[in-house]
Amino acid sequence: MDAGAEVIWKALEQQKGTKDVMKRGDSSIQQFYRNSSILVTGGTGFLGKQLVEKLFRSCKLSKVFIMMRAKKGKTVEERLADALKDPIFDTLRECQPGFADRIVPIVGEMAEKELGISEKDRWLLIKEVDVIFHVAATISFQEPLKSATLTNVRGTRELLALAKECKKLRTFVYVSTAYCHATFSRRDTEVLEQFYPCPMPPALLIRMAETMDEERLNLIKDGLIAEWPNTYSFTKALAEELVRSSAGDFPICVIRPSIVVCARREPYPGWIDLSSVYGPSGITLGCMLGVIHALQSVQGIRIDFIPVDYVNNVAIAAATTAGKDVKIYTVGSSKRNPITWGGLSHILNNFARKTVVSPDAIWYCFVIQSPYRWVHLLFSFLLHTVPAFLADGVCMLLNKPPRFLLHTVPACLADGVCMLLNKPPRFLLHTVPACLADSVCVMLNKPPRASDGPATHYLLPLPVCLADGVCVLLNKPPRFLLHTVPACLADGVCVLLNKPPR
Ligand SMILES: NC(=O)c1ccc[n+]([C@@H]2O[C@H](COP(=O)([O-])OP(=O)(O)OC[C@H]3O[C@@H](n4cnc5c(N)ncnc54)[C@H](OP(=O)(O)O)[C@@H]3O)[C@@H](O)[C@H]2O)c1
Repeated sequence: MDAGAEVIWKALEQQKGTKDVMKRGDSSIQQFYRNSSILVTGGTGFLGKQLVEKLFRSCKLSKVFIMMRAKKGKTVEERLADALKDPIFDTLRECQPGFADRIVPIVGEMAEKELGISEKDRWLLIKEVDVIFHVAATISFQEPLKSATLTNVRGTRELLALAKECKKLRTFVYVSTAYCHATFSRRDTEVLEQFYPCPMPPALLIRMAETMDEERLNLIKDGLIAEWPNTYSFTKALAEELVRSSAGDFPICVIRPSIVVCARREPYPGWIDLSSVYGPSGITLGCMLGVIHALQSVQGIRIDFIPVDYVNNVAIAAATTAGKDVKIYTVGSSKRNPITWGGLSHILNNFARKTVVSPDAIWYCFVIQSPYRWVHLLFSFLLHTVPAFLADGVCMLLNKPPRFLLHTVPACLADGVCMLLNKPPRFLLHTVPACLADSVCVMLNKPPRASDGPATHYLLPLPVCLADGVCVLLNKPPRFLLHTVPACLADGVCVLLNKPPR
C-alpha cells in the first residue's frame, strides 16, 4: 500500500469506534439532539456543510433550517441543491437517503436588518428551533469595515434577538475565531478561554456602519481597528462582546477555531470545501502539487491548523454543555501537536515529496521560505513568474494563446509606474497568487477562477532547469534533468508526428 493510501486507511480505521457509538444512538450527546430542530447560519460554507453532514449522520434530528441567501442569480433552493451535490454528503446519502427532505432553506441575509427573514419564516423559527449554530460570517481579511460590521456584528445582534424570541431554544453556539483577541500587543502571549475587553461598544460601530458612507468609514478604519490586523478579527471581537452581553438570556457557548483545514477523518479524510482552497490549505496543496515553491514566512512561527471535523465535533458536543455562564472553547493544535512554518517545509521537502506524491503533481514538491519580502519576491519571480513566462512562450510556439503574459505584463508595467512614482508596487502580489491559484484549480479539475483560461503552464521542461539552477546555487546536486530530458525528447517526437506534446 502506498503511503498516501495508508494515511487514508488509518484515518478510516480510527472511525470505527465513532461509528459503533453512533450506531448505538444512546450517547448523552445523541439524546440531547434527538428529534430537535436546528437552525444553522453559514450552512453553505466550509464549516457549515461539514456541520450539517455530521449532525445528520450522528443524531436523529427532526429538521435542519439553513439560513441562506440567493446568490449569483441562483435561488436558495437552487443553491441548496448545489450544496447537497458536494461529495461530503455521499456517505450520508447512502445511509440516510431521505435526509435532504428534512432540510428547510430559510431565505436570509446576515447584513440586513432582522436578517431579511420573512415574517412567516420568523414565526416558524420562533416556534420550532431548539438549537442555533451561528456559523455565517464574512471571513475576508480585506472586507471593507462597513460590510464586515453589518454582516459580522449587526448580523450577530439580529440573530441573538431572534434567538431570544425562540420559545424552545436550548442552546446558541457562536462560532468565533481563535484570533479575535490576537491583537498586536498580545503578541507572544497566550489568549485564554475568556472574554476580553471590547475595543468599542458594538452598538456604536453598528451605528457608524449604518450612517456613514463607506469611503469615510474607510478613512478612519485604521485608527478604529488599530490593535487588530484586519476588519475580520476586529468585527469578530465585537460580535463576541454581543454574545457575552446576551449571557443569561439563554444558554450560549463560543467556539474559537484556529486555522481550519481539511477533514482528518469525517466523513472521509481530506475533504475540503473548494472555497477554502485559496487559504492555507491551498498553499499546502499548491506545494504538494509542485505549483508553489516560494513562501514568505518566519520559520519559527507556529501555524495552528485544525481539521474541520475536529472543530465541528467540539461545536456539537459543546452545545450540550452550555449553561448560564458562557463557556468558551478554543479548538487548535498548538498545545498538543504544534507545527511551525519551518516544520511544515521540512515535512513537505522530506516526507511529503517522497511518500505521498500526488499523480497530479506537475513538479517536485519543494519549498523555499524566507522571512524577507524581497528575497521571497525574488524566489517567487524565479520559481513562479519566470516559468509562467516560459510557458506562454511555449504556448505561442505551439500556436496556442499565451495565458500569463496578458495578466503579468500589464501588472509589471503598472508596478513599474508605481515605483517611479515612489509608491509601493501593487499588482504582482495579486497576479502571481492568482496564477498559482488557477494552476491549483486546474490540478483539481476545476475551471480556473482567477484568470480566464485553462492553465497547464507548468508542464514544461524549462522550470525544471531553473529548479536545477537553484539546486546548484544552493550547492546541491541538480536533480531534475533525468526526468526532463526524456520528456523533452518524447515531446519532440510527438511534435514530429504531428501529435500534441504530452
Ligand atoms: N475557515 C477558517 O479557517 C476559520 C477559522 C476560524 C474561525 N472560522 C469561523 O468559522 C465560520 C465559518 O467559516 P468558513 O470557513 O466556513 O467560511 P465560508 O466557507 O466563507 O462560509 C461562510 C458562510 O457564511 C455565509 N455568509 C457570509 N456572509 C453572509 C451574509 N451576508 N448573509 C448570509 N450568509 C452569509 C456564507 O454564505 P454564502 O454561501 O451565501 O456566501 C457561507 O455559508 C466563520 O464564522 C468564521 O469566522 C473559520
